[in-house]
Amino acid sequence: MAQKRILLGVTGGIAAYKSAELVRLLKKSGHAVRVVMTRGAEAFVAPLTFQALSGEPVRTSLLDPEAEAGMGHIELAKWADTVVVAPASADFLARLAQGLADDLLTTLCCATEAPIVLAPAMNQAMWRNRRTQRNVELLQADPQVTLWGPDQGEQACGDTGPGRMLEPQALADRLNGACEGPLSGLRLVITAGPTREPIDPVRYISNHSSGKMGYALAAAARAAGADVTLVSGPVNLAGPAGVTRVSVVTAEDMLAAASEAVDRGCDIFIATAAVADYRPANCADQKIKKTASDLSLELVRNPDTLATIAGRPDAPFTVGFAAETTDVAKYANDKMQRKKLSMIVANDVSQPGVGFNSDNNAVTVFWPGGQQDFAPESKTALAGRLVSLIAERYRTARANQTKP
Ligand code: PMT
Repeated sequence: MAQKRILLGVTGGIAAYKSAELVRLLKKSGHAVRVVMTRGAEAFVAPLTFQALSGEPVRTSLLDPEAEAGMGHIELAKWADTVVVAPASADFLARLAQGLADDLLTTLCCATEAPIVLAPAMNQAMWRNRRTQRNVELLQADPQVTLWGPDQGEQACGDTGPGRMLEPQALADRLNGACEGPLSGLRLVITAGPTREPIDPVRYISNHSSGKMGYALAAAARAAGADVTLVSGPVNLAGPAGVTRVSVVTAEDMLAAASEAVDRGCDIFIATAAVADYRPANCADQKIKKTASDLSLELVRNPDTLATIAGRPDAPFTVGFAAETTDVAKYANDKMQRKKLSMIVANDVSQPGVGFNSDNNAVTVFWPGGQQDFAPESKTALAGRLVSLIAERYRTARANQTKP
């Protein structure tokens, strides 16, 4: 079993006492556990209990100068493979759903790229309350977030109904298994970023891809339960938690790394990378001096990673991207047919504020017999929606394949 770095958030509710047992079980399974408590949680259980069980200092305050001098809140957010909030109170769900960062735990949830698991616990009437349910709906639509529970049954206040936190053993069992989500049990290989094609030791041909779209997809796919390998060109981004990153430079490196990853087993291949279509026929050993005669480069075609993977006899479900500036739908559909793809994401990069190197994107996805538009939004939010659509189309394609 893979050992995880689990950040356990404990919020204010009587079920907080059960979280002490959860820490014990997770430690017994070999995971590293750090605990963050809200002010409400401290009214139910003393931080010392969690400190003794986790063997780590417990963090309670965002503005604690001593704690920030050690592992500050951003480091803590990056440290975690998985964030688990158990119990997650109605108040915490509301604050998380709204994206608030008004205490240490909500701030960590804003700062982390790790999957966030919530184990709600509250009185049955509070759980059924329509405002709570509205927040639950918002959280369920968030690809980074998974809700486990609540359970039905007798409650501490004497009521009976939904709102009991899942038992610590059930939570530990789930954490010991794979993340749950629409891509659970599936292996994804995703390409991202630009490639660089060397001209001489100091110059190269490249493009404006930042890798943001591909990295957001990798994080969303991981949060949806997939085992993700990210084949990345040179970018300035941290690898998403829980994702295996393979760094490459040139288009030829990208093909080799992607093929190797697909050989190891791949159900869905997504090509977000902006691969240079051409490379210099020869890379000069020394810097080419501009005093020499005018520079002219002989270019040769690069291999096409996406077409190569889609053309394999054991081809996975393949999703291409098409960055276009004119006749976007036509060129994207041509590419889907020519490269024998299962789906294509058409990206009109002539639009301001979306596409290359932007934090936002807007796309239209095409597949044989269908299409869906996605309005401009952050690449993180868009990635969640694309992952849901890809999972749905993948399941439909597999179901049709197995039909007699
Ligand atoms: O990285 P960001 O800054 O976040 O920007 C995101 C993006 C704009 C790069 C992304 O959304 C996008 O549109 N990626 C595809 C870019 C592209 O180069 O498209 P293309 O039309 O040239 O290629 C079509 C498809 O074939 C792509 O899936 C591409 O990854 C793949 N390809 C192309 C050439 C090649 N030699 N190998 C390939 O695998």
